[in-house]
Parts: sequence; structure tokens; C-alpha cells
Amino acid sequence: MLKAYLKYRKTRVDAHGLHSPFVFDFYNEIIKKSKTGIDGAIENLRATLLKSNTKIHFTELGAGSKKGNQTERAIKSIAKHAAMTRKFGGLLARLCEFYAVKEVLEIGTSLGIGTAYLSKHSTNSITLEGCKETLDIAQENFKKLNYQHIDARLGEFSNSLKILASEKRKFDLIYIDGNHQLEPTLAYFEFALNNSHNDTFIILDDIYWSREMEKAWGKIKADERINVSIDLFRMGIVCKRAGQRKQNFVVKY
Ligand SMILES: C[S@@+](CC[C@H](N)C(=O)[O-])C[C@H]1O[C@@H](n2cnc3c(N)ncnc32)[C@H](O)[C@@H]1O
Repeated sequence: MLKAYLKYRKTRVDAHGLHSPFVFDFYNEIIKKSKTGIDGAIENLRATLLKSNTKIHFTELGAGSKKGNQTERAIKSIAKHAAMTRKFGGLLARLCEFYAVKEVLEIGTSLGIGTAYLSKHSTNSITLEGCKETLDIAQENFKKLNYQHIDARLGEFSNSLKILASEKRKFDLIYIDGNHQLEPTLAYFEFALNNSHNDTFIILDDIYWSREMEKAWGKIKADERINVSIDLFRMGIVCKRAGQRKQNFVVKY
């Protein structure tokens, strides 16, 4: 991870290094306006979750876990370790507003903080989670925020995606944030390609979290069906954008 970060610092650029008009706009509107997009109600909710000592039975399904294992976890610990940060929540809210993102899919709900940021400007959001007790809390959170346009689905990702594939939807944004292993990540990416349009944002969290994630990111940005990739170190954003010259941008954020 340190080696990857040093490489990112060496190669990242600011607006002067960006020659693609699409990425230049992305930089000015989404990256630079870092003070906007943060939501008071979502941050108040995060603050409450971060204080909660209530314990839930957490069903482990992701990378590095024994599938189906149950552990007791305090809500505050989940909020601290799994929830989208304020900085990246703001970034995704700005992106959704600027590009008029209406149809959202999130793979990995946790307590729903990321879902909330992604859904501030959406018309419909679908979010997938495998742990029932975690999803119950996320759904309480959506109620508290008065978000009624979120369809939260319980189940192992591969099963939920199979059902979703039969619905033949096209999303404007797909956020992949769970089960950070190579093969599953590539399978979620393949799903994303099949359920997206030319301008859909496919976003992956934790692209340097492990060797497997780094490898997955390497394959995704090299994929022939992708022309634009933006590396923010914490997150990777890719778009098909057929007709644009294939380029990878390492951007400072
Ligand atoms: C990092 S958290 C998601 C954080 C959330 N997107 C946010 O931004 O606040 C990942 C979630 O994915 C769930 N998960 C991991 N692997 C899964 C799988 N194979 N099927 C279903 N859920 C899974 C975990 O239970 C966990 O709640």
C-alpha cells in the first residue's frame, strides 16, 4: 500500500496536466469544489452512529472472512471502519448533482452512509447488503433521513446481482464497495459493464486496499471497453465513453 501511495503521489496531476475536456471539467467541478456536497443531516446521523455502543450480530461475507460467520460488533465500530468518509461522501454527492445521476446501484450498503450521499440527488437507488442486522439499521437511517427512493436488498451479492440482471436496468452510477477480492470484484465490474450506458460512472472503493484489489484495478482500467479511468488512490472511477481516446488519469484529491 505504501509503495502504491508513493507511486500515486509521484504521478498525480492537477488541472494543468489534464487535457481531456471531460476530465478537466470533472477536476474543476468535482475535485476542486471540495467544500461543497457535505450534508449536515447525514453527518449528524454519522455522529450518532459513532457514539452507539449497541451491538449487532454481524454476518461476515466479504474478503478475509469465513463466509456466514457471525460476530458481535458495536455499531460505532462499523460506522468508524466501514462507512464512507465525509470527504468522499461530498465528492460523490457533487458528482451525482453535476452529472444529473438519477439511477444508482451500490454494492455494499453497511449502515447506509454512502447510500445516503449517493441518493441525495437520485430518483431511484438500489443498494445491496448481505448482513440482515446491518441492513435493518441502514433502513432505519433512510427513514430518519426521509429517503423513500431507496430499494435496499438483502442477500449475498452474487445472488442479488443475478436477480438484478434479469430486470435489465441501466444505471447512471454503480458503486462497488464490498467483498474486496479479485474474482468477485471483476465479476461485479462485468455486471456493471452489462448494466450501464456509455456515460455511466463505475466507481470502486479501496483500489489499493490489498494486492488483489490493486490487481483488479489494474485489469479494470486496462479493459478495452473502458476509455476513461480516474485514480484518486482511495477510489477508482471508470467510464466507457466510447470514441474518447483511452487514458488513465491519476488525480490529486
Ligand atoms: C465497506 S462496507 C460498505 C460501506 C458503504 N458502501 C458506505 O459507503 O458507507 C461493505 C459491506 O458489504 C457487505 N458485504 C461484503 N461482502 C458481501 C457479499 N459477498 N454479499 C453481500 N454483502 C457483502 C458487508 O456486510 C459490508 O456491510
